[in-house]
Amino acid sequence: VTPVSSALSHLECSKCGDVAQADVIQQLCACGAPLLARYDLQKAAATLTIAELARRPWSLWRYAELLPIRDLSRHTVSLGEIVTPIVPLPEIGRDYGIGDLRCKDDGLLPTGSFKARGAAVGVSRALELGVKAFAMPTNGNAGGAWAMYGRRAGIGAHVVVPRDAPAIHRYEMESAGAIVTLVDGVIADAAKVVVQLVNETGIYDASTLKEPYRIEGKKTMGFEIAEQYDWQMPDVILYPTGGGVGLIGIYKGLLELQAIGFPVDRLPRMVAVQAAGCAPIVRAFDAGLRESLFWKDSKTAAFGINVPKALGDFLVLDAVYATGGCAIAVEDEAIAEARRSVAAVEGMLLSPEGAATIAAAAALRENGWLRAGDRVLTINTGNGIKSAL
Ligand SMILES: Cc1ncc(COP(=O)(O)O)c(C=O)c1O
Ligand SMILES: [Zn+2]
Repeated sequence: VTPVSSALSHLECSKCGDVAQADVIQQLCACGAPLLARYDLQKAAATLTIAELARRPWSLWRYAELLPIRDLSRHTVSLGEIVTPIVPLPEIGRDYGIGDLRCKDDGLLPTGSFKARGAAVGVSRALELGVKAFAMPTNGNAGGAWAMYGRRAGIGAHVVVPRDAPAIHRYEMESAGAIVTLVDGVIADAAKVVVQLVNETGIYDASTLKEPYRIEGKKTMGFEIAEQYDWQMPDVILYPTGGGVGLIGIYKGLLELQAIGFPVDRLPRMVAVQAAGCAPIVRAFDAGLRESLFWKDSKTAAFGINVPKALGDFLVLDAVYATGGCAIAVEDEAIAEARRSVAAVEGMLLSPEGAATIAAAAALRENGWLRAGDRVLTINTGNGIKSAL
C-alpha cells in the first residue's frame, strides 16, 4: 500500500500573492484577504492517481494528498463523510426542457449539510495545529457542523447566530455544548461580535475564509463531481451562494485535479444562485464588477444564503467570469415552488438553498441562457428535513 500524505506546501494570499507558512496558525493575510492552501502538485500526482483512487474508501478523505492534514492517523475528526450521491431529476428536467438535470445531495452528510465537509477538514487541521477553541458567525448549518466536529475533537466552540435563524440550528449547536450568542440582525452583525471576541480573547477565528482550511473541505465537492461524472464534466453547475466558499471550492478543486494531470475535460460554467432578497454577487455580476457591495436589509427564507457581503466575493466572481458562468437571483416564492415540485415529482425534499438552484435552472432555461442540450448539475447543500417547517 502506498503511504498517503498531504502534499500541502504553503499558504498563498488570494489577493496580493504573499506566501505564508502553513504549519502554524494563520488567519487572514496582512492585506486583509483570505489565504489559500497550495500543494506540491508533483508530489500529490505521484500517489494520487486514478488507479489508486479506485482502491480507496468512498469518503472525502480519499483525496488526502490534496487535503491539508499532515498526520491523518492522529488528527482525522470524522463523523462518516460519504461521497454524496448525484441524483437524476428526469421529470423536472422534462418540465423545464433540460435533457440532463441532476442534483448532488449534500444533505446526506453528517449534521445534514455540506458544511460537514468544511468542518471535517477545518476542525481536523485546527486540532493538528493545536487550536483549543474557536469562534465563528453562522446562519446555522456551519455552526452546527463546527460545534459537532469541534466537540468530537475536544475543541470549544463559540458560535454567534442571528436571532431569527431556525431553532433547529440553535438546538444542534447547544446539544454539542457550544456557547451560543444570539444577535439581532443578519450574519454581518454576528460577524462584528466575533471580530470583537477575537480581538479581546485571541480565540481562533473560524469565520468563513478567515482560516484557510474550511474551503479545503468544501473543494472535495469538486473532486467528487469530477470523479462521479467520469471526468466528462457537466456543462453547468448551479450553486446556492452565500459566503460562496462552496463555489470557490469546487472551482479550486477542479483546477487542482487538472494540475495533477487528471482528465477533467473542461470547467463547467459556474453559476452563483442567490435569493432576490440578498443578491450582492448578482448585482456585481450584472454590473460587470469584480467585487460586491454590502446588501442592506437582506431578507430571505433561504437562510443559508443570507450573506450581505462575502469576504470572498471577488473569488466567486473570478470563478464565474473565468468559466463563462453567470449569477442569478430567484424570488422566495420561486424557491418554495421549486421545493414543492421536486418533492412532489421526484420524491426528494431539498433545503430551501438547494431548491433555489432548481428555481434558477428553470429561470435560466426560460431566458435561454441554458440550452436544451446542457448537462446541468444543481447542488442540494442541506437536508430538506432540517428546514421542514
Ligand atoms: C444550506 C446552505 N446552503 C448554502 C450555504 C451557502 O454557503 P457558501 O458559503 O458556500 O456560499 C449555506 C451557508 O450557511 C447553507 O447553510
Ligand atoms: Zn495579501
